[in-house]
Amino acid sequence: MLASPSVSSLYDRVRRFIPPAEWLSFEDDIAAIRALKKKRNAVILAHNYQTPEIFHCVADIVGDSLALARRAVDVEADVILVAGVHFMAETTKLLNPAKTVLIPDMQAGCSLADSITPADIALLRQAHPGVPIVTYVNTSAAVKAASDICCTSGNAKQIVEGLGVKKVLMIPDEYLAHNIARQTDVEIIAWHGHCEVHELFTADDVRQLRENHPGVQVLAHPECPPDVVAEADFAGSTAWMSDFVASKKPAQVVLLTECSMSDNVAADHPEVEFIRPCNLCPHMKRITLANIRAALEQNQHEVLIDPAVAHGARLAVQRMLAI
Ligand code: 13P
Ligand code: SF4
Repeated sequence: MLASPSVSSLYDRVRRFIPPAEWLSFEDDIAAIRALKKKRNAVILAHNYQTPEIFHCVADIVGDSLALARRAVDVEADVILVAGVHFMAETTKLLNPAKTVLIPDMQAGCSLADSITPADIALLRQAHPGVPIVTYVNTSAAVKAASDICCTSGNAKQIVEGLGVKKVLMIPDEYLAHNIARQTDVEIIAWHGHCEVHELFTADDVRQLRENHPGVQVLAHPECPPDVVAEADFAGSTAWMSDFVASKKPAQVVLLTECSMSDNVAADHPEVEFIRPCNLCPHMKRITLANIRAALEQNQHEVLIDPAVAHGARLAVQRMLAI
Protein backbone atom coordinates (compact mmCIF):
# COMPACT_ATOMS: atom_id res chain seq x y z
CA MET A 1 0.00 0.00 0.00
CA LEU A 2 1.30 3.50 -0.89
CA ALA A 3 1.55 5.88 2.04
CA SER A 4 -1.05 8.66 1.75
CA PRO A 5 0.20 12.28 1.98
CA SER A 6 -1.49 12.58 5.37
CA VAL A 7 0.61 9.66 6.69
CA SER A 8 3.83 11.24 5.40
CA SER A 9 2.89 14.50 7.08
CA LEU A 10 2.56 12.71 10.44
CA TYR A 11 6.32 12.36 10.40
CA ASP A 12 6.72 16.02 11.37
CA ARG A 13 5.43 15.18 14.82
CA VAL A 14 7.90 12.38 15.50
CA ARG A 15 10.93 13.15 13.31
CA ARG A 16 13.09 14.02 16.35
CA PHE A 17 12.63 10.48 17.72
CA ILE A 18 12.37 8.26 14.64
CA PRO A 19 15.19 8.21 12.05
CA PRO A 20 14.00 8.55 8.39
CA ALA A 21 14.93 4.96 7.48
CA GLU A 22 12.93 3.58 10.38
CA TRP A 23 9.98 5.83 9.53
CA LEU A 24 9.90 4.40 5.98
CA SER A 25 9.40 0.95 7.49
CA PHE A 26 6.42 2.29 9.51
CA GLU A 27 4.49 4.20 6.84
CA ASP A 28 2.76 1.21 5.29
CA ASP A 29 1.49 -0.10 8.65
CA ILE A 30 0.36 3.36 9.73
CA ALA A 31 -1.65 3.86 6.53
CA ALA A 32 -3.16 0.37 6.84
CA ILE A 33 -4.10 0.85 10.51
CA ARG A 34 -5.74 4.21 9.82
CA ALA A 35 -7.78 2.62 7.00
CA LEU A 36 -8.68 -0.40 9.14
CA LYS A 37 -9.93 1.84 11.95
CA LYS A 38 -12.44 3.38 9.54
CA LYS A 39 -13.43 0.05 8.00
CA ARG A 40 -13.97 -1.66 11.37
CA ASN A 41 -15.33 1.39 13.21
CA ALA A 42 -12.51 0.98 15.71
CA VAL A 43 -10.67 3.32 18.05
CA ILE A 44 -7.23 2.85 19.55
CA LEU A 45 -6.62 3.64 23.23
CA ALA A 46 -2.89 4.02 23.88
CA HIS A 47 -1.03 4.37 27.16
CA ASN A 48 1.65 7.05 27.58
CA TYR A 49 4.35 4.33 27.43
CA GLN A 50 3.61 3.34 23.84
CA THR A 51 6.26 4.18 21.25
CA PRO A 52 5.86 7.52 19.37
CA GLU A 53 4.76 5.97 16.07
CA ILE A 54 1.83 4.37 17.93
CA PHE A 55 1.15 7.21 20.37
CA HIS A 56 1.29 10.06 17.82
CA CYS A 57 0.40 8.36 14.53
CA VAL A 58 -2.39 5.80 15.10
CA ALA A 59 -3.86 6.32 18.60
CA ASP A 60 -7.20 8.11 19.05
CA ILE A 61 -7.20 8.40 22.84
CA VAL A 62 -4.00 8.60 24.89
CA GLY A 63 -3.29 9.05 28.58
CA ASP A 64 -2.47 7.54 31.93
CA SER A 65 -4.34 4.54 33.35
CA LEU A 66 -6.99 6.75 34.94
CA ALA A 67 -7.66 8.78 31.79
CA LEU A 68 -7.89 5.65 29.66
CA ALA A 69 -10.39 4.10 32.09
CA ARG A 70 -12.48 7.28 32.17
CA ARG A 71 -12.51 7.63 28.39
CA ALA A 72 -13.20 3.91 27.78
CA VAL A 73 -16.67 4.30 29.30
CA ASP A 74 -17.93 6.60 26.53
CA VAL A 75 -16.37 5.04 23.44
CA GLU A 76 -19.09 4.48 20.87
CA ALA A 77 -17.07 2.63 18.22
CA ASP A 78 -17.71 -1.11 17.72
CA VAL A 79 -14.12 -2.11 18.40
CA ILE A 80 -11.68 -0.77 21.01
CA LEU A 81 -8.07 -1.79 20.50
CA VAL A 82 -5.93 -1.25 23.58
CA ALA A 83 -2.30 -0.37 22.87
CA GLY A 84 -1.16 -1.10 26.39
CA VAL A 85 -0.97 -4.07 28.73
CA HIS A 86 -3.52 -6.74 29.57
CA PHE A 87 -4.93 -5.21 32.74
CA MET A 88 -5.72 -2.03 30.78
CA ALA A 89 -7.62 -4.03 28.18
CA GLU A 90 -9.54 -5.82 30.96
CA THR A 91 -10.44 -2.49 32.58
CA THR A 92 -11.70 -1.25 29.20
CA LYS A 93 -13.85 -4.36 28.75
CA LEU A 94 -15.23 -4.04 32.29
CA LEU A 95 -16.27 -0.45 31.65
CA ASN A 96 -17.65 -0.93 28.14
CA PRO A 97 -18.68 -4.60 28.03
CA ALA A 98 -20.77 -4.42 24.85
CA LYS A 99 -17.72 -3.55 22.72
CA THR A 100 -15.22 -5.88 21.13
CA VAL A 101 -11.99 -5.16 23.03
CA LEU A 102 -8.77 -6.28 21.35
CA ILE A 103 -5.18 -6.43 22.58
CA PRO A 104 -2.48 -7.04 19.95
CA ASP A 105 -0.46 -9.38 22.22
CA MET A 106 -2.03 -11.39 25.03
CA GLN A 107 1.39 -11.78 26.68
CA ALA A 108 1.61 -8.03 27.39
CA GLY A 109 1.46 -8.42 31.17
CA CYS A 110 2.74 -6.50 34.18
CA SER A 111 5.02 -7.47 37.07
CA LEU A 112 2.60 -5.80 39.50
CA ALA A 113 -0.42 -7.68 38.17
CA ASP A 114 1.60 -10.92 38.43
CA SER A 115 2.53 -10.27 42.06
CA ILE A 116 -0.84 -11.06 43.65
CA THR A 117 -3.73 -13.53 43.29
CA PRO A 118 -7.30 -13.71 44.64
CA ALA A 119 -6.06 -16.38 47.10
CA ASP A 120 -3.57 -13.84 48.50
CA ILE A 121 -6.43 -11.35 48.96
CA ALA A 122 -8.44 -13.96 50.86
CA LEU A 123 -5.48 -14.46 53.23
CA LEU A 124 -5.11 -10.69 53.67
CA ARG A 125 -8.81 -10.43 54.58
CA GLN A 126 -8.36 -13.14 57.20
CA ALA A 127 -5.30 -11.41 58.65
CA HIS A 128 -6.89 -7.93 58.64
CA PRO A 129 -10.65 -8.39 59.17
CA GLY A 130 -12.76 -5.37 58.28
CA VAL A 131 -9.87 -3.42 56.70
CA PRO A 132 -10.88 -2.23 53.19
CA ILE A 133 -8.72 -3.36 50.29
CA VAL A 134 -7.68 -0.63 47.84
CA THR A 135 -6.36 -2.27 44.71
CA TYR A 136 -4.15 -0.62 42.12
CA VAL A 137 -5.62 -0.96 38.60
CA ASN A 138 -2.43 -2.83 37.64
CA THR A 139 -4.07 -6.13 38.65
CA SER A 140 -6.15 -8.88 37.07
CA ALA A 141 -9.94 -8.65 36.96
CA ALA A 142 -10.07 -11.58 39.42
CA VAL A 143 -8.01 -9.63 41.97
CA LYS A 144 -10.13 -6.52 41.43
CA ALA A 145 -13.25 -8.62 42.05
CA ALA A 146 -11.87 -9.70 45.42
CA SER A 147 -11.16 -6.08 46.41
CA ASP A 148 -13.29 -3.19 47.65
CA ILE A 149 -12.18 -0.37 45.39
CA CYS A 150 -9.53 0.37 42.77
CA CYS A 151 -7.10 3.27 42.50
CA THR A 152 -4.50 4.50 40.04
CA SER A 153 -1.33 6.48 40.63
CA GLY A 154 -3.38 9.56 39.67
CA ASN A 155 -5.99 9.23 42.44
CA ALA A 156 -4.52 6.90 45.12
CA LYS A 157 -4.40 9.50 47.92
CA GLN A 158 -7.93 10.70 47.12
CA ILE A 159 -9.28 7.13 47.17
CA VAL A 160 -7.51 6.17 50.42
CA GLU A 161 -8.77 9.30 52.18
CA GLY A 162 -12.21 9.16 50.54
CA LEU A 163 -13.01 5.88 52.30
CA GLY A 164 -13.19 7.69 55.65
CA VAL A 165 -11.42 4.94 57.60
CA LYS A 166 -8.26 4.89 59.74
CA LYS A 167 -6.57 1.93 58.07
CA VAL A 168 -6.52 0.41 54.57
CA LEU A 169 -4.72 -2.36 52.75
CA MET A 170 -3.20 -1.02 49.56
CA ILE A 171 -2.12 -3.69 47.10
CA PRO A 172 -0.03 -4.79 45.27
CA ASP A 173 2.58 -2.00 44.81
CA GLU A 174 4.68 -1.67 47.97
CA TYR A 175 6.36 1.53 46.81
CA LEU A 176 3.17 3.28 45.74
CA ALA A 177 1.67 2.35 49.14
CA HIS A 178 4.68 3.77 51.02
CA ASN A 179 4.76 6.91 48.87
CA ILE A 180 1.05 7.56 49.54
CA ALA A 181 1.46 6.73 53.25
CA ARG A 182 3.84 9.67 53.54
CA GLN A 183 1.11 12.04 52.33
CA THR A 184 -1.77 10.94 54.56
CA ASP A 185 -2.75 10.14 58.15
CA VAL A 186 -4.53 6.97 57.03
CA GLU A 187 -2.52 3.89 58.05
CA ILE A 188 -1.59 1.88 54.96
CA ILE A 189 -0.69 -1.80 55.00
CA ALA A 190 1.27 -2.72 51.86
CA TRP A 191 1.88 -5.85 49.75
CA HIS A 192 5.29 -6.68 48.27
CA GLY A 193 4.68 -6.21 44.53
CA HIS A 194 6.99 -3.98 42.48
CA CYS A 195 7.02 -2.53 38.99
CA GLU A 196 10.05 -4.06 37.30
CA VAL A 197 10.69 -0.78 35.43
CA HIS A 198 10.41 1.77 38.24
CA GLU A 199 12.14 -0.33 40.90
CA LEU A 200 15.38 0.06 38.89
CA PHE A 201 15.72 3.77 39.65
CA THR A 202 17.85 4.62 42.69
CA ALA A 203 18.34 7.72 44.85
CA ASP A 204 21.96 7.64 43.72
CA ASP A 205 20.76 7.99 40.09
CA VAL A 206 18.93 11.17 41.08
CA ARG A 207 21.98 12.64 42.82
CA GLN A 208 24.13 11.76 39.79
CA LEU A 209 21.62 13.39 37.43
CA ARG A 210 21.65 16.60 39.48
CA GLU A 211 25.44 16.62 39.52
CA ASN A 212 25.66 16.13 35.74
CA HIS A 213 22.78 18.50 34.90
CA PRO A 214 22.62 21.32 37.47
CA GLY A 215 19.12 22.78 37.65
CA VAL A 216 17.40 19.77 36.07
CA GLN A 217 13.82 19.17 37.29
CA VAL A 218 13.42 15.56 38.43
CA LEU A 219 9.93 14.05 38.07
CA ALA A 220 9.37 10.56 39.51
CA HIS A 221 6.53 8.11 39.08
CA PRO A 222 5.14 6.96 42.48
CA GLU A 223 5.94 3.34 41.54
CA CYS A 224 9.60 4.33 42.15
CA PRO A 225 11.16 3.44 45.53
CA PRO A 226 10.35 6.00 48.26
CA ASP A 227 13.96 7.23 48.56
CA VAL A 228 13.85 8.08 44.83
CA VAL A 229 10.55 9.95 45.23
CA ALA A 230 11.99 11.77 48.26
CA GLU A 231 14.91 13.05 46.14
CA ALA A 232 12.65 14.15 43.25
CA ASP A 233 11.14 17.61 42.72
CA PHE A 234 7.72 16.21 41.90
CA ALA A 235 5.98 12.82 41.91
CA GLY A 236 2.83 11.83 40.08
CA SER A 237 1.18 9.65 37.48
CA THR A 238 2.33 9.78 33.86
CA ALA A 239 -0.44 12.33 33.12
CA TRP A 240 0.68 14.51 36.03
CA MET A 241 4.26 14.47 34.73
CA SER A 242 3.05 15.47 31.29
CA ASP A 243 0.95 18.31 32.80
CA PHE A 244 3.94 19.45 34.90
CA VAL A 245 6.10 19.83 31.76
CA ALA A 246 3.27 21.63 29.90
CA SER A 247 2.60 24.11 32.70
CA LYS A 248 6.10 24.75 34.12
CA LYS A 249 8.11 24.34 30.91
CA PRO A 250 11.39 23.60 32.74
CA ALA A 251 14.58 24.21 30.74
CA GLN A 252 15.75 20.66 31.54
CA VAL A 253 13.69 17.79 32.86
CA VAL A 254 14.10 14.11 33.58
CA LEU A 255 11.12 11.76 33.83
CA LEU A 256 11.94 8.78 36.07
CA THR A 257 9.59 6.40 34.31
CA GLU A 258 9.36 4.28 31.16
CA CYS A 259 11.48 5.38 28.15
CA SER A 260 8.84 6.20 25.56
CA MET A 261 7.09 8.65 27.85
CA SER A 262 9.85 11.25 27.33
CA ASP A 263 9.57 11.00 23.52
CA ASN A 264 5.80 11.36 23.66
CA VAL A 265 5.87 14.43 25.90
CA ALA A 266 8.90 15.96 24.15
CA ALA A 267 7.03 15.95 20.83
CA ASP A 268 4.80 18.73 22.18
CA HIS A 269 7.60 20.68 23.92
CA PRO A 270 10.60 21.19 21.63
CA GLU A 271 11.82 24.01 23.90
CA VAL A 272 12.28 21.61 26.87
CA GLU A 273 15.44 19.48 27.03
CA PHE A 274 14.73 15.93 28.19
CA ILE A 275 17.52 14.02 29.94
CA ARG A 276 16.80 10.35 29.37
CA PRO A 277 17.87 7.57 31.67
CA CYS A 278 16.07 4.78 29.87
CA ASN A 279 14.21 1.85 31.45
CA LEU A 280 11.98 -0.04 29.00
CA CYS A 281 8.84 -1.93 29.98
CA PRO A 282 9.12 -5.23 28.08
CA HIS A 283 5.35 -5.73 28.34
CA MET A 284 4.42 -2.36 26.84
CA LYS A 285 7.01 -2.95 24.13
CA ARG A 286 5.22 -6.11 22.97
CA ILE A 287 2.76 -3.80 21.22
CA THR A 288 3.94 -2.80 17.73
CA LEU A 289 2.43 -1.30 14.59
CA ALA A 290 2.64 -4.74 12.97
CA ASN A 291 0.63 -6.52 15.65
CA ILE A 292 -1.88 -3.64 15.91
CA ARG A 293 -2.47 -4.04 12.18
CA ALA A 294 -2.79 -7.82 12.49
CA ALA A 295 -5.18 -7.42 15.43
CA LEU A 296 -7.52 -5.20 13.40
CA GLU A 297 -7.25 -7.36 10.27
CA GLN A 298 -7.87 -10.64 12.07
CA ASN A 299 -9.99 -9.46 15.00
CA GLN A 300 -7.47 -10.76 17.52
CA HIS A 301 -6.94 -11.10 20.46
CA GLU A 302 -10.33 -10.54 21.98
CA VAL A 303 -10.32 -9.77 25.71
CA LEU A 304 -13.13 -11.54 27.54
CA ILE A 305 -13.72 -11.57 31.27
CA ASP A 306 -14.93 -14.54 33.27
CA PRO A 307 -18.57 -13.70 34.15
CA ALA A 308 -17.88 -15.03 37.67
CA VAL A 309 -15.51 -12.11 38.32
CA ALA A 310 -16.75 -9.41 35.91
CA HIS A 311 -19.48 -8.00 38.16
CA GLY A 312 -17.28 -7.62 41.26
CA ALA A 313 -14.35 -6.26 39.27
CA ARG A 314 -16.58 -3.72 37.51
CA LEU A 315 -17.93 -2.52 40.87
CA ALA A 316 -14.39 -1.97 42.21
CA VAL A 317 -13.46 0.12 39.16
CA GLN A 318 -16.77 2.02 39.12
CA ARG A 319 -16.45 2.88 42.83
CA MET A 320 -13.08 4.42 41.99
CA LEU A 321 -14.49 6.46 39.10
CA ALA A 322 -17.33 7.68 41.32
CA ILE A 323 -14.94 9.24 43.90
P1 13P B 1 -0.04 5.68 35.04
O1 13P B 1 0.01 6.01 33.58
O2 13P B 1 -1.43 5.52 35.49
O3 13P B 1 0.76 6.63 35.84
O4 13P B 1 0.59 4.22 35.21
C1 13P B 1 1.90 3.93 34.99
C2 13P B 1 2.12 2.51 34.69
O5 13P B 1 3.12 1.94 35.04
C3 13P B 1 1.13 1.80 33.92
O6 13P B 1 1.50 0.52 33.74
FE1 SF4 C 1 3.59 -2.98 34.82
FE2 SF4 C 1 5.66 -1.41 35.34
FE3 SF4 C 1 5.25 -2.22 32.84
FE4 SF4 C 1 3.57 -0.44 33.96
S1 SF4 C 1 5.72 -0.13 33.50
S2 SF4 C 1 3.02 -2.27 32.78
S3 SF4 C 1 3.58 -1.13 36.10
S4 SF4 C 1 5.74 -3.54 34.59
